[in-house]
Formats: sequence, C-alpha cells, structure tokens
Amino acid sequence: MKGLILSGGTGSRLYPITYTNAKQLVPVANKPVLFRVIEAIHDAGINDIGIVVGVDDNARQVREAVGDGRRWGVKITFIPQEAPLGLAHAVKISQDFLGSDRFVMFLGDNVIQGGISDLIRRFETSDWDAQVVLTPVSEPQHYGVAELDDNGCIQKLVEKPRQPRSNLALVGIYMFSEPIFQAVNGINPSWRGELEITDAIQWLIDHDYRVEPHVHRGWWIDTGKPIDMLEANNRVLDEIDHHVLGYVDRDSQVNGKVTIEKGAEVINSVIRGPAIIGEDTRIVNSYVGPFTSIYHGCVIESSEIEHSIVLENCHIVDIPVRLEDSVIGRNVIITRSPIKPKAYKMILGDNSQVGIL
Ligand code: DAU
Repeated sequence: MKGLILSGGTGSRLYPITYTNAKQLVPVANKPVLFRVIEAIHDAGINDIGIVVGVDDNARQVREAVGDGRRWGVKITFIPQEAPLGLAHAVKISQDFLGSDRFVMFLGDNVIQGGISDLIRRFETSDWDAQVVLTPVSEPQHYGVAELDDNGCIQKLVEKPRQPRSNLALVGIYMFSEPIFQAVNGINPSWRGELEITDAIQWLIDHDYRVEPHVHRGWWIDTGKPIDMLEANNRVLDEIDHHVLGYVDRDSQVNGKVTIEKGAEVINSVIRGPAIIGEDTRIVNSYVGPFTSIYHGCVIESSEIEHSIVLENCHIVDIPVRLEDSVIGRNVIITRSPIKPKAYKMILGDNSQVGIL
C-alpha cells in the first residue's frame, strides 16, 4: 500500500499563526502535526508516501521541514496542487504517484488516538473497495456526515449538511483502491467550488462498490482552529512517553508527566505536567502549568503560563498575570512596557486575539 497525505490548503481558520507557518507544521506537544501523521503511516508498515502541497511559501516550508523522509525511513514524493480545489481533486492529481496500488489518504492536520495500524491491516486483508473512518461528534454540521442503515452499512454521505441526519462524522482518514479514480472523475464541484471526497465516496456506493465503515471510539481531532490545537496538545501530552534530557536545578520542582528536551534549562521554577519544554529553552523563576508546550529556543522568565502552546524563540518575561489558553506564534515578545506612560503596547498581526484583564 501507499500513503497520501494532504498538506495543501490555506489554514485560514488558524490565522494569524498560519500567515507565516504552514498549518500542518504547527507543533502539538512540540512535534508538527504532519510529522505525527507520517509516523502513524510508517508505523502501519507503509513506506512510500506522497504529500500533496500547495505552490506557495507554506509548501516550501513543508518541503524543507520534511525533506526526503529518510529520517523516518520512508520515501516522500511531493505532489504540487495549484490551488486547494478539494480533497477529491488532490486524489485526482496524485494518480501518477498512486498507480494501481491501494492507498491510505490521511489529512495532514488530523490527530487520532491509537494510530492506524489496525485499520490498515483490516483493509489490506479485505476485498473492500474503500474503508472510511467515522466517529460520533457533537457538531456534525462541520464535517462530512454518514448515515448508516440497521446493518451498519453506509446509506448516505453528505458534506457539511445544514441538518445532519446522524452524529457520525467522517474522520480525515480514508482507504481506497483503484475505482476511486473513476469516482473523482465522475463528480462535479460542490457549492463551495471543491471536488469533495465525500461525493466521490458516495459515487462508489451508488455504483455498488463496497465501502466499509469503521467507527472509531477513541479521540480524534481536526486541528482546524486554535482551540482544537490546544485540545490536541492536551491529549497528546497526556499520552506520550516523557523524558528529562535537559538541566533542572535544585531549586526547581518538576511534577508529573514532563519532558525537558536537550539543552533546556529550568532554574528556580515549577513545572507541573503534563508539559514539554523544548530544546535550548530557559525557564527561569517561573511556573509552567499542566497542558503546556513550550517549543525550542524560548525564554520564560518571572512569568506563569498554563494550558498553552508557545512556538519557537518566544520571550515571555515579567508578566504579572498568568497566561492561559493561549497559542503564541514564533518570535513573539511579551513583556512589561519598559517606558512610561504605563499602558498596554502591542504590535499584533492581522486577526490576532488578545484577552486583557
Ligand atoms: O477533518 C475531517 C473533515 O475533513 C471531513 O469530515 C470532511 O468530510 C472533509 O471534507 C474535510 O473537511 P475540511 O473542510 O475540514 O477540510 P479542509 O479544507 O480543512 O482540508 C483538510 C486537509 O486537506 C488540510 O490539511 C488541507 C488539505 N487540503 C485541503 C483542500 C481543500 C489539500 O491538501 N488540498 C485541498 O484542495
């Protein structure tokens, strides 16, 4: 089997973080979501992976960050998509790469508990034409939605229905065989102008191909919005194996599931896990509370932070009030105003959000 990861698109729901950062490269527990997807596919025994990327600067970042895949022991082929014309369009342009192999398609911004090895094994040993993963959600109108009949077979799939007839959402993980190419060529763009993979799968069902549903019972997160990133960060931090490679001085306390990466220093501070402190980051006279990921090269000094994600090279110094529920982009400086008048002084990018007391 081959793997196909979709890593194009604009990530507009994650602005401003994604103005300068491909959404699939935003780290969850200090590892880009896209890397977690590559690892999940590799762990399932698939080593030939295509990645659909755009043609913008974000695509360049993805190519640079992933490289040729050698570090995971996989072969990566990049497939440029001239515009985000839909998930089925991405399949269409990947036909040369996929050939007649069965393949798993994984959306590059999805995180799922437990990986996909069992799903791949089920599909590989079956004669199904496709397998889709479903999971119950509270707001199905934001997803592709499946209606099952009394025997658990898929009756109908609808992309983002206004009035969903079930709470089972399509998770961004699909397994296909060759007929999917007829399907993506047999459908028309939806109201949002995209070739929808949901419509292509409905095409398979309408043409009597066997599409098997699998209902996933663990957690699954589409990291579309900042709140989803925080949620994914909570889940992953709680589950990964933790290790302390950096330096913790005798005046500090490190409690619970905490990773301190190499070159990091914790001085006279309290870190309460689950949390991760990135390479060469310094935590000085500070408190880092549960569900916090601080990425590489940051300085947190005389400040408190909890339930947040901080990207690389940020300086958070001398903040009088604890930061919570925050996603902070790269190279951000948050500190007390150095000169009078006493005032909030901000330089914020478009679509930033700040909550003040
Ligand atoms: O997350 C699950 C949902 O993903 C499913 O329930 C929906 O049925 C499915 O259509 C999809 O919906 P989204 O609206 O969330 O898809 P989004 O536009 O966010 O794209 C998902 C990923 O695919 C994202 O990493 C960007 C990438 N992508 C997207 C498009 C439209 C591409 O690589 N090329 C594209 O043309």
